[in-house]
Amino acid sequence: MTTNTETAGLFQPAEIGPLHLPNRLVMAPMTRTRAGADGVPRPIMAEYYAQRAGAGLIVAEAATPNRVGQTYANIPAVHAPEHVAGWRTVTGAVAEAGGRMFLQLQHGGRIGHPENSGLHPVAPSPIAFPEPVHTPGGPREAVVPRELTAAEIRQTVADFAAAARNAVEAGFAGVEVHGANGYLLHQFLARNTNRRTDAYGGPVANRIRFVVEVVRAVAAEIGPERVGLRVSPGFTGQGMDERDTAEIYRALIGELAGDGLGYLHVVFADPEDAVFRELRETWPGTLIANPVLGWGGPLPEDGGRAAAERLLAAGADLISFGRGFLANPDLVERLRTGAPLNPVRDGLMYRGDAEGYTDYPALNGPVAGLVAG
Ligand SMILES: Cc1cc2nc3c(=O)[nH]c(=O)nc-3n(C[C@H](O)[C@H](O)[C@H](O)COP(=O)(O)O)c2cc1C
Repeated sequence: MTTNTETAGLFQPAEIGPLHLPNRLVMAPMTRTRAGADGVPRPIMAEYYAQRAGAGLIVAEAATPNRVGQTYANIPAVHAPEHVAGWRTVTGAVAEAGGRMFLQLQHGGRIGHPENSGLHPVAPSPIAFPEPVHTPGGPREAVVPRELTAAEIRQTVADFAAAARNAVEAGFAGVEVHGANGYLLHQFLARNTNRRTDAYGGPVANRIRFVVEVVRAVAAEIGPERVGLRVSPGFTGQGMDERDTAEIYRALIGELAGDGLGYLHVVFADPEDAVFRELRETWPGTLIANPVLGWGGPLPEDGGRAAAERLLAAGADLISFGRGFLANPDLVERLRTGAPLNPVRDGLMYRGDAEGYTDYPALNGPVAGLVAG
């Protein structure tokens, strides 16, 4: 576990449980839709992640723990032996390049489409996602999801645990449970997407239950120090409206604080935000903060270094960047030396093969960790 000291800089080492990190910069999970149609990671993904092995920790993109949880086409999965085999090439390439990886586990809940998963999406309550869902045939109106039964909730919890076991077998150091950004776990937390009248809905104590059960099942399977949880308090994108943000996260973090988890990862963390400050005060373990860098616009000229330093000063242990790592395989070196960043090519985030993926240049010639692919 890391400790917070004023001297803890971005380039100092840290620990997550037994895992040693050479610096405090984390590559945030980013869906890139470059997996096969069957969810099997492709060799180009090994090349992409190995290029970014200079990160203190890579959190690999959202991977699906069961078929019905698949959000979009060509996102990777981690529920079948062929997925484990595909991921093994990725973790092997990253280890060879000197890096470390967690895998994010994401169930889409109502954010999904039969044209993507072949199955009708499920959610806490039958309330449709208010935006179109991307499918290979173009954007489609979201369908009304089917409400999960109690038995299906138990099965989903078990699927997360099995997926975590698969991830460790595939060579990941741990998993990050995706409780953020409007996907299934967040749909249980928020009042506008959870209208259940059973033990999983209604008061905050009930709405956090599913998240707590998933995290504990995963921790029981692979060990708590190998488990991170990502949350996005107050997030209003993707049709979310929590309504009682402070109460939700106070209850959730209060419940999990004693479990010895690897880390808590807070999206769009703001040192001035009261919920963020309370989470830092009450979360006894490692906290990864993902700063707000002006979503949708260009990256700041300093690459987010000032925002990172502010969050470290506010008690964050590690800082995660998404788009900075996406466009700069050697982001750590660039931040260390103040070198300029490559701009992000927005149109190639979710499409393209090598283009906009493995072809971002490093400062000095070919990037470290390049493998044949
Ligand atoms: C292309 C792209 C894909 C993303 N996919 C995920 C994802 O799979 N899981 C997740 O939790 N967040 C995802 N995010 C959000 C990032 O992890 C991060 O929170 C966000 O990009 C803000 O950080 P930044 O300003 O450093 O990019 C994604 C962001 C981008 C740009």
